[in-house]
Amino acid sequence: MIRMKSNLTYLKKPDLFKVLNQHQDSFFAVIDEAVREHLPDWVKNSKKVFWLKNPEASKNLATFGEVIGFFLDQGISRSSMLFAIGGGATTDLAGFVAASILRGISWTSVPTTLLAVVDGSIGGKVAVNMPQGKNLVGAFHAPEKVCICYDFLSSLSKVEWDSGKGEVLKYGFLSTKISEMILKRESLELIAHECCEFKQKIVEKDFKEEGERIFLNLGHTLGHAFESNLKIPHGVAVAMGIKYLLKVFSQSELLVEWEKLADSLGISLEETNLSHYPEFSVDKFKSYMLQDKKKNQTSIRLVLLNKVGSCYVQEIKFQDFLKKIEANEDFKS
Ligand code: GLY
Repeated sequence: MIRMKSNLTYLKKPDLFKVLNQHQDSFFAVIDEAVREHLPDWVKNSKKVFWLKNPEASKNLATFGEVIGFFLDQGISRSSMLFAIGGGATTDLAGFVAASILRGISWTSVPTTLLAVVDGSIGGKVAVNMPQGKNLVGAFHAPEKVCICYDFLSSLSKVEWDSGKGEVLKYGFLSTKISEMILKRESLELIAHECCEFKQKIVEKDFKEEGERIFLNLGHTLGHAFESNLKIPHGVAVAMGIKYLLKVFSQSELLVEWEKLADSLGISLEETNLSHYPEFSVDKFKSYMLQDKKKNQTSIRLVLLNKVGSCYVQEIKFQDFLKKIEANEDFKS
């Protein structure tokens, strides 16, 4: 049973609790320990919750197996509803459990970070990491419902906010409407709402990333390499990935747009400069990209920008892309 469509709902905490209460009989959950205190007592004390102490470090096959074993012992069935409550790592792991256990059961995603709200919780890409790289084992299995509750965001750390804002900046390049909202400094809740609806529309048209869904990967090729090399949060790395993509392709006008969007969102220009990271190693960066690119491919498909709101995909020889990177002043160590 593979679900392709989710129902997106925006609710305050009391209404989220009502949804949880309605599912008490069929309830199973994977929850980030960090949000435990924000949940109703019956959830806090439920025997059917697998708590994640460190979701990012738990997003692997070992924990995946542990969660499955735990739920089977607790009597999970095909009519159970699996809730995933936490950030992107929690929803990715729990969604993959939902896709696999008993050949697939329904799940509900409750993202509690800005990054998970605007990206990971929507669209049904679920996965775990492997030593060889991120998200290498997974499935497409959309949650039945995505319950977006901004009340959780008030307890986010600065790093988590910055990470979410980086993905929001990406949407500012994908949609003129979102770009205008960011530049008008509308509330982050309103902007995030528009990002969710934008992603939902794309995913409804292209669930399996056979077409325009690939645009959502804007900035991710360089971004993943920055994330791995500099150990910075995903969203910050994506913001850097877009910035350096524009630099490498000498798109100076769009670089000005990048700075305006970053400024409006409160993304630090300094922290997204390579010069801010003395530990940056261009050799490690290149070898990460080599290892990340699909095996046996000599070229990669890059998402590039014509202008705000208009992307295209260009197949480029990997060696040519590396040469472009090496030619850029900022990458000279
Ligand atoms: N994070 C990109 C996607 O869901 O397609």
